[in-house]
Amino acid sequence: MEKMKRIIIDTDIGSDIDDALAIALALRSPELKLEGVTTVYGNADLRAKMVAKMLQLSDKTDVPVMAGLDNSLLGNRPIWMAGHEGDGLLEEGETLAYDARHAVDFIIDTVMRHPGEITLIPIGPLTNIATSLIREPRVAQNVKEIVLMGGVTRLGDNGADLRVVEHNIACDPEAASVVFGSGAPIVMVGLDVTLKVQITEKERQELIRSNDPLNLKLADMMGRWFDFVKEEHTFMHDPLTVSLLIDRSLVKTKKMSVQIEYDHRPRTGQTVASFTEDANVDVCLDVDSDRLVQLLMSRLLSGVAS
Ligand code: RIB
Ligand code: CA
Repeated sequence: MEKMKRIIIDTDIGSDIDDALAIALALRSPELKLEGVTTVYGNADLRAKMVAKMLQLSDKTDVPVMAGLDNSLLGNRPIWMAGHEGDGLLEEGETLAYDARHAVDFIIDTVMRHPGEITLIPIGPLTNIATSLIREPRVAQNVKEIVLMGGVTRLGDNGADLRVVEHNIACDPEAASVVFGSGAPIVMVGLDVTLKVQITEKERQELIRSNDPLNLKLADMMGRWFDFVKEEHTFMHDPLTVSLLIDRSLVKTKKMSVQIEYDHRPRTGQTVASFTEDANVDVCLDVDSDRLVQLLMSRLLSGVAS
């Protein structure tokens, strides 16, 4: 039997709905061992409580949750919070405990204790990951891989339609520069592929019909997100990262180097990909979106009564 893949998810759960779906996908995938979940950006404490609640709902309270950094690496970037973080998941006055260790300590300790074993899956701004690499640069050689959601290259077939900057990178471009420049093996899951993958009201109804406690909360949060964005679909940015640990053939990649623009001109946060001899980033340029949605839904609905 193939060995379980050991992962740490670093998340800004709560603003967009996709982080919660990515965590649920990891929790329901027998190929993956979730070593811990760390939170980042704006209000890492509130986000850690959200993860703790998800673990409670899925009987996985043995997975440790650690809060990390709220502010950007240099403290020079405005923080954006949607304002609805926790709604639909946390109850009024509910107390939810999580691990007292700092996210950065947990990331460094876990990677360094298990060289070549741990895959980091950052699905928010890269502040915790950059800080880990600054404090312990050997994380770059000891991590198995960093499969991150962030950036956009506009080098795929949809390039002309895409914006030039992606949220996770724009929120902390200095941190992104540290991570992409670290030499660690990276898979960049950017808007080039994630904007090709949507789920809709149809999938939300399937989650409701499953009558599973976690799926019901996911459906509730998804409904609120549809109202917030005034759409009846949403993009599976973050679940795509997790799905690549299950099936790498979902995407087509190209090995490139990625530099980050981080001065304060309007395009700050841009991920500039180019060919170099020492390229360390597999940039995802295409995705089989139907297959990804099938994988995500089959896992979310697996093992629950219908
Ligand atoms: O740009 C998409 C990314 O921004 C996703 O990770 C989403 O959850 C938000 O963090
Ligand atoms: Ca996210």
